[in-house]
Amino acid sequence: MTAEPLERALDHEERLTRPTPLPESRPPLLRTARESDLPELQRLDEEVFQEVAYPAFLLRQLYDLYAGRAGHLLVLDDGDGRLRGYVLAATTAISRDSWILGLCVAEDRRRHGLGRELMVEVLARLRRCGTERVRLTVEPANDAAILLYRSLGFRPEPPEGGLRRDYFGPGEDREVMRLVL
Ligand SMILES: CC(C)(COP(=O)(O)OP(=O)(O)OC[C@H]1O[C@@H](n2cnc3c(N)ncnc32)[C@H](O)[C@@H]1OP(=O)(O)O)[C@@H](O)C(=O)NCCC(=O)NCCS
Repeated sequence: MTAEPLERALDHEERLTRPTPLPESRPPLLRTARESDLPELQRLDEEVFQEVAYPAFLLRQLYDLYAGRAGHLLVLDDGDGRLRGYVLAATTAISRDSWILGLCVAEDRRRHGLGRELMVEVLARLRRCGTERVRLTVEPANDAAILLYRSLGFRPEPPEGGLRRDYFGPGEDREVMRLVL
């Protein structure tokens, strides 16, 4: 398997919303993923991405590849056994390119800076590893994610303003964004 951009996107529009109060005051802890997180990671991935969630076997192997020593699979741990978000970056050994393959925050925890926190930390780790470029794909109508990525310095990768028609199959257009570290 090659490190291809598997970043999924939701078919429904990610509407731009105002922050809602957090259900509790303590913010979740950002840490590297552990093997014991896999069932909970799968639950969260299915909760957010539904029919385009990673199958369990792929999530397992992505964990094997990119968690561990690389430390590029980060989770938000609520401390009660629940995970509330994750980010996954996959880096090629040869060209020092990395792809963000997954980013999400549980719906009831959004708009509190957690998505940004995950991205900032994984980008810092990639920078420390000598990664030169980070790419990702995003569904063109996913304004929330695009705003977050733009605020971190990601820009559409030419040509055609980043738009890749039928990128994930017929009708599955995606925008490719790139950040030079
Ligand atoms: C994209 C996602 C991870 C953002 O997580 P989040 O914790 O809500 O984001 P943050 O609170 O850190 O917001 C960071 C910035 O993103 C932008 N943003 C994120 N969600 C937004 C929204 N609903 N409306 C407007 N701006 C939004 C803002 O610029 C925000 O900065 P600000 O708070 O200073 O205005 C989250 O919406 C999510 O999980 N979505 C579903 C999965 C998904 O689409 N993943 C990305 C696939 S490419």
